[in-house]
Amino acid sequence: MPRLPLLEDLGDVSGKRVLVRTDFNVPMEGPDNARVITDDFRIRAALPTINWLTSRGATVVCASHLGRPKGQPVDKYSMTPIRARLQELAPGVELMENLRFNAGEESNSEAFVAQLVQGFDMYVNDAFGAAHRAHASVSGPPKTLPSAAGRLLQREVEVLGEMRNHPKRPFIAVLGGAKVSDKLGVIEALLSTVDALVIGGGMCFTFLAAKGMPVGSSICELDQVAVCKRLLDGPKQIHLPEDIVGLDAEGNYATFGVRLPDGAKGLDIGPGSAAAFTDVIMDARTVFWNGPMGMFEDPRFAAGTKTVAQAVADTKAFTVVGGGDSAAALAQFGLDDQVDHVSTGGGASLEYLELGDLPGLAALRGAPNVR
Ligand code: 3PG
Repeated sequence: MPRLPLLEDLGDVSGKRVLVRTDFNVPMEGPDNARVITDDFRIRAALPTINWLTSRGATVVCASHLGRPKGQPVDKYSMTPIRARLQELAPGVELMENLRFNAGEESNSEAFVAQLVQGFDMYVNDAFGAAHRAHASVSGPPKTLPSAAGRLLQREVEVLGEMRNHPKRPFIAVLGGAKVSDKLGVIEALLSTVDALVIGGGMCFTFLAAKGMPVGSSICELDQVAVCKRLLDGPKQIHLPEDIVGLDAEGNYATFGVRLPDGAKGLDIGPGSAAAFTDVIMDARTVFWNGPMGMFEDPRFAAGTKTVAQAVADTKAFTVVGGGDSAAALAQFGLDDQVDHVSTGGGASLEYLELGDLPGLAALRGAPNVR
């Protein structure tokens, strides 16, 4: 397999116009025509690449998607607030309008690729969070332009690749989030490399159902119960909660064992489970965490996620947190600087761990400067 081209492989960038694909899909709030960025982590994460290029005399134009506007311009997903923040952080660097305002981005249309690359001498992909999407701005430019992975993309692939291929053992993965079906591919792949899996969040109820436990009104994917049973019967240890916190049939806060009464809804792992999961995390040498343990946005159901986040921060293990909700939870608890690596990609980090490659990486390896 050809290696991933890096910034150094671009040669002299002085005086060149460089198209930089970034993932500025940042959380925002407020009315559609006056949206405010609530976390600029992904914008700051692209600065090492932008600064590397501009300090060597390149002109940088960034391009990103924001949200899922479905090929139509909509105020809510305008890049204007992000452009303003980028001007503060990297004065003079331009930002195109939302790539997904053009249907050709997601359909990977050749015409849209031609439009994108026009007037550019080089292409850099620093959008790890979008590298699992074979969209025009990810797959297209390296077909014609000398291309490279930016520093963020490079670091993500180094960290996740090392963890996937040469983890220090015991290697454990802590998975949460609502749906088993979303993560089945990665669960199967992780089971072949991890020493144990820890499962919390909404998806634990499908596993508990597979063990024959009544789950009340909790989220549960009945069509995945048989798959979960097969995984539980496999050789790797899967740690499940031993107690659950949620609402009883009358809507009152309650703590249960793992057999939930009719009408009860589990919304967080209980204190016993959080303590048991902490022990597993503290004994590990590599920990990958993706997905909250419960509905942590509601303070009544945040304790399980907070305890797990604290354990991930405290353990001496090499710790990687995979994007999205788990990164938001870490930030909410003020622990984001206490782990070894917070991935900027949620879906991308899972897909990379599952498959060991991504469409955006494959495209870069085929660029004219590495062929
Ligand atoms: C993300 O937020 O995970 C990335 O920006 C990808 O966004 P998408 O799931 O809308 O493609």
